Amino acid sequence: MFFGIFKLKFHYLKISLVQTIINFLMPAIQVKNLVKKFKETTAVDDISFSVEEGECFGLLGPNGAGKTTTINILSTLLKLTSGFASVAGFDVSKYKNEVRRSIGIVFQEPALDSKLTGKENLEFHAMMYGIIPQVRDKRIKELLELVELSEKANTLVRNYSGGMKRRLEIARGLIQKPKVLFLDEPTLGLDSQTRRLIWDYIKRLNKEHNVTIILTTHYMEEADYLCDRIGIIDHGKLLVLDTPENLKKTAQVSTLDEVFIHFIGATIRNIEEREKIW
Ligand SMILES: Nc1ncnc2c1ncn2[C@@H]1O[C@H](COP(=O)(O)OP(=O)(O)O)[C@@H](O)[C@H]1O
Ligand SMILES: [Mg+2]
Repeated sequence: MFFGIFKLKFHYLKISLVQTIINFLMPAIQVKNLVKKFKETTAVDDISFSVEEGECFGLLGPNGAGKTTTINILSTLLKLTSGFASVAGFDVSKYKNEVRRSIGIVFQEPALDSKLTGKENLEFHAMMYGIIPQVRDKRIKELLELVELSEKANTLVRNYSGGMKRRLEIARGLIQKPKVLFLDEPTLGLDSQTRRLIWDYIKRLNKEHNVTIILTTHYMEEADYLCDRIGIIDHGKLLVLDTPENLKKTAQVSTLDEVFIHFIGATIRNIEEREKIW
């Protein structure tokens, strides 16, 4: 009996040791030949890329390109059809809980409870993550300060502006101190001043707090300002992947807008496809 428990413990120790070494050696995100099919639609079509720890990586592409689907697979919300993906060293198909514990996510669609205050939203989220009250209160205070919402902490979210909601969502995504933060269209629909403010938080998180960031956007200036490297995807395929500077050099243009047109083309997509939001 005693030896049985000892053997079991040793077995888990061995696994966690091996996993620690794997985590240390693997990039923050690894994607190999990733495919996701929804019946007749191939939303992600054989994509491969990796993201190093501390990097800010951008997935750029028009609506319907496959950005959200990729993020949803990496954050374990969707099952992949084939291929491989790992986050923080954990295979997303095998270690869902470990992946979830390592990440924060800010969804494309707002996901706050408007009947609660900003602080209550964060408290609820912290409870879901099992963060003990002593740690929780301090962390919530720090996060509200980070996104400059301390004064609005006790205001109902229904009375927040779009920019304030977005900032609160970023704070919420950071509650469990994630190694990797996913931001799906973080500034969609915001005015340019608020967008700048959000860019500054993202930059600070990435450069000062060393959070690995993967963001999707279809705003070129956003990707140019924030991302160390950018992958442009369309129709589920990764067309090109490089630093913003190298992309401009390759396309022989001076702005990312022109890079985008160079790789994607200037034709406006079929309107139903553009307006379809899942
Ligand atoms: N749950 C779903 N069921 C069926 N098709 C979907 C679903 N989610 C996304 N799609 C399709 O997959 C493609 C990629 O969508 P998405 O990843 O949301 O693109 P993006 O985020 O780049 O705008 C689109 O053609 C979309 O219509
Ligand atoms: Mg999307």
